[in-house]
Amino acid sequence: MEFDEAVDKAPPGWRQFAIEDVARLPDAVRDHEMARVPPGESEERIVRGLFWTLVYHLAADRWDELSKHEPIAPELLDALPQRVDSALDVGAGSGRLTQHLVSRSHSVVAVEPSYPLRALLAERLPSVRPVSAWAEALPFDAGSFQLTAACGAFGPDPAVLSELRRVTANGGFIALFSPEHPDWFEHQGWKRIATAATAPPEHPQWLDQFFGPLDPPHELVMTRVAR
Ligand SMILES: C[S@@+](CC[C@H](N)C(=O)[O-])C[C@H]1O[C@@H](n2cnc3c(N)ncnc32)[C@H](O)[C@@H]1O
Repeated sequence: MEFDEAVDKAPPGWRQFAIEDVARLPDAVRDHEMARVPPGESEERIVRGLFWTLVYHLAADRWDELSKHEPIAPELLDALPQRVDSALDVGAGSGRLTQHLVSRSHSVVAVEPSYPLRALLAERLPSVRPVSAWAEALPFDAGSFQLTAACGAFGPDPAVLSELRRVTANGGFIALFSPEHPDWFEHQGWKRIATAATAPPEHPQWLDQFFGPLDPPHELVMTRVAR
């Protein structure tokens, strides 16, 4: 997401963070995220623009609670290949999508830059190999995975898409749940599956107060890699 858009769309919980929290981010994360911030931005706009990063790294339990109350629509999961040898989840968080890859793949790798989210995932899904990395530079050989997936993490970013393609085997699939700008993917020939947006399950009120209205993933774009 572009910085201006992230500032405009920052959920109400941004007020719980301050510029000092940006300084508390791990160095590599702060450097990566600050590279998106145009020069001369105010402290308030930086905090708003980095809201989600602050949550993933400094309030991981909050993200985990949100993702538990925003389950992925089952019809979308049904569209995934039923059985593969190797699957990758990029930007895996605490494992909302990863858990569904475990039942479909002999081996699963989860890339997640947030240490606390990786720790939650590793505790819940001990068969999954957690890896700390960025989607823009995946530490895997070309063609390593038959299924490369992500949920809620990416849009049409050329650096990310080129890495997702590179690590996916010839004939393998890339599946992006709740991508940014799904129409862009559809125009590029990706299959787009959308289900009706459903009401989130019963959930604590603080989730709406902090994150705004809940929006469980109800869209998937998918393509098959052919070289
Ligand atoms: C919206 S959360 C989704 C988490 C998980 N996929 C899920 O569905 O619950 C986005 C995740 O992507 C991770 N992330 C953000 N930027 C990333 C990047 N450039 N490379 C890899 N992961 C990234 C964040 O740390 C966060 O855990």
